[in-house]
Amino acid sequence: MSNVLRLHGAMLLALGVVVTAQNVSQGWPYMFETEEVFPSPPMRTTGVLAESLTLVNQLITQLTLEEKVGLVEGSDGPCGGSIAPIPRVNFKGICLQDSPLGVREADFVTMFPAGIAAGASWDRNLIYQRGLFMAEEFRAKGINIALSPVVGPLGRSAFGGRNWEGFGADPYLAGVAAKETIAGFNARGVQSTIKHWIGNEQETMRNPSTGPDSVTVLQESVSSNIDDRTMHELYMWPFADAVRAGVSHVMCSYQRLNQTYSCQNSKSLNGLLKGELGFQGAVMSDWFATHSGISSIEAGLDLNMPGSPTSPYFHNITQFIRDGNITEERLDDMVRRIMTPYFHLNQHNSSYPTLDLGLNEFKAQEVVAVPILPWKAVSAQNIEDWNFGPPKNRDVRDNHGEFVRELGAAGAVLLKNEGALPFSKLRNVAVIGNDAADLSQGQFALNNTNPVGPEFGANAVGGGSGVGRFSYFVSPLEAIKMKMGAGLTQYILDNKIAVESIGSLYPPPEACVVFVKSFTSEAYDRSTLALDWNGDAMVEEVARSCNNTVVVTHSGGTDLLGWADHPNITAIVAGHLPGQEIGNSIVDILWGNVNPSGKLPYTIAMEVSDYGTQIANFSGTTDINAWQSDFVEGQYIDYRRFDAYNITPRYEFGFGLSYTSFELEKIDIIRLTKEVSSTAPSQPVSPGGNAALYDPLIFVNVTVRNSGSVAGATVPQLYLSLPNSAPAGTPLQVLRGFEKTKVLEPDERQTIAFILTRKDMSFWEVTAQQWRVPSGDFTVRVGFSSRDIITRGSVTLI
Ligand code: BGC
Repeated sequence: MSNVLRLHGAMLLALGVVVTAQNVSQGWPYMFETEEVFPSPPMRTTGVLAESLTLVNQLITQLTLEEKVGLVEGSDGPCGGSIAPIPRVNFKGICLQDSPLGVREADFVTMFPAGIAAGASWDRNLIYQRGLFMAEEFRAKGINIALSPVVGPLGRSAFGGRNWEGFGADPYLAGVAAKETIAGFNARGVQSTIKHWIGNEQETMRNPSTGPDSVTVLQESVSSNIDDRTMHELYMWPFADAVRAGVSHVMCSYQRLNQTYSCQNSKSLNGLLKGELGFQGAVMSDWFATHSGISSIEAGLDLNMPGSPTSPYFHNITQFIRDGNITEERLDDMVRRIMTPYFHLNQHNSSYPTLDLGLNEFKAQEVVAVPILPWKAVSAQNIEDWNFGPPKNRDVRDNHGEFVRELGAAGAVLLKNEGALPFSKLRNVAVIGNDAADLSQGQFALNNTNPVGPEFGANAVGGGSGVGRFSYFVSPLEAIKMKMGAGLTQYILDNKIAVESIGSLYPPPEACVVFVKSFTSEAYDRSTLALDWNGDAMVEEVARSCNNTVVVTHSGGTDLLGWADHPNITAIVAGHLPGQEIGNSIVDILWGNVNPSGKLPYTIAMEVSDYGTQIANFSGTTDINAWQSDFVEGQYIDYRRFDAYNITPRYEFGFGLSYTSFELEKIDIIRLTKEVSSTAPSQPVSPGGNAALYDPLIFVNVTVRNSGSVAGATVPQLYLSLPNSAPAGTPLQVLRGFEKTKVLEPDERQTIAFILTRKDMSFWEVTAQQWRVPSGDFTVRVGFSSRDIITRGSVTLI
């Protein structure tokens, strides 16, 4: 038996994993399965949803079996996903629409900063407002369900193609950001969807490969093989926060989890999500992620998207019921889970905005442009069935552009500054690189999953379903020209030309701002952590001749930045994916209108190999089950790995400079209860799990002082080290608190209070299947990054 298996054996058994002789012979349990958990827990009849549940039950009594079946699968309709109306009972249908950064298939909408930029702001208020403003736009277009936000992928691998849709590679940060976003959606009465549950950490082989008939499976999708403790402490963590925050729906993911497709994994859907976390909404499939009818329904899937005709698995539920394979009560529970948020958020009221007919035209256009798409827009005869109403092509943007500018700057991270920034009295600047340019391939590519992205155009969002159509776009070049006014703005946008003829600039610029990017998109993982379009070589070439080279990256995650120590590179800003105001946001940072306060929500390594975990790739194999991604690293991803193996990062998790400096003055730890039991008193499960897990156990106060000469904000971060009694595999430290300060004037102070809950201070004990507070000394570490711990204290609870 390998060491790895010995280490994880108990955990796997607790997750119901069947460890076979074959597993053992192959080391890490290559072929394990999870236990089955049945039946699917029905919705509770008490709690905050009780009133709306009554309304759903009234609806259910009026519906025929066929009509109920119509509610649990998608249909043709005006939206990315649509639930058909039932005119007989005056039900006007439900519209589901991407994306996590704004309304996707629509006009006159705002493209907000991507999740990774919001995460990099570490600013709860801004993240809440982002949710609120996005919700206002979904609502004003008449959309019922937003397919947002994302906490899976979490960012197990720096190469993950969709990491940028989420908030960063830490479950606590992602959980807080999800909670704030969902609170924003709930405040505006728009249903939210947390996705993708769970273990959705790579794009490569996320779906099975099929033969020429498109049906016969040649190879099953990759299986994310995750042990029970890692599942709880890492991947489930932010989903638990989302469920607790009242998320309406959960989208199950494409890939397999421990050998079983995510949307038919009864352990994860019935057991973990509906059982342990007490989730009260619907489990919705990702688009075409359903692979069965009866098995999926039994396993806990409630809504099949996009539904018939291409994904007809739920179409025969009437037959399943007649044959006794599914109970009508299970179907009713599916309907309740889908429809309760609709009533709870008052979307049945006439006060809810009508659907913009433009959505339907957009859909029709998409169907023409991409003929393989199986769904259709609403036909002229059926328009009345839906909740359409004037005006068409509504402008729902309000003044959200201003907010985008603000959050875009807040999500920029200053990585290096040798006094070059902020610019002042600049008369002659050079703007270099294709990432400074305006968009060159249109504001929205209908089917824009492309592994490379356009050559020319600032990289303001990623690719795939997680984006939308720009109504306008402020490029870095445009914003810098505006800022420079009568000054000289020289520019070369073609990276090749920049490398060849940087010397052609005259007079020599006082500063050369190089804009570089790396595009990341759904459906593809990154093949390299280098910059696109020869960006790294261009940076080095510019730096050879320009001794004040400022580099700005626009990227969905890590770029290795091998040239970072070049003496002529005087500043580096990781601008992330800031949305439509990309130019103004970066100008605000470069010229110091905004003092940078963003922090890295992931680690930038010196070398690719430092990251350890890679995208699983079994290309070239033929075995139907060959694609196995064993999460053998357990919790050691991102900074947890760098800490555990003592690897020095280039820029660590939580790092980010400012134009001023800060001090942390004192740490004060206050125990809130005298007696702490090691496990939570048992309470009925409420959304998020046992409510007692969220009881506060300690307060930690610190005082921050602006010790520099200009105003600015920062982010004190609290990292907790569990006592030695915690089992092997426990990270050296985990983020358990952060707070963005207000903008502090020089010498101004602010006291920050962190609250740590029972769950924050526990580990998941696999054998007992519960969270346990370990005995011994906790070390509470507070600083300005995961490696810049300024003050620490300790506390013993048990
Ligand atoms: C994506 C989801 C998205 C859905 C609908 C899928 O390909 O994985 O995130 O919500 O499409 O567009």
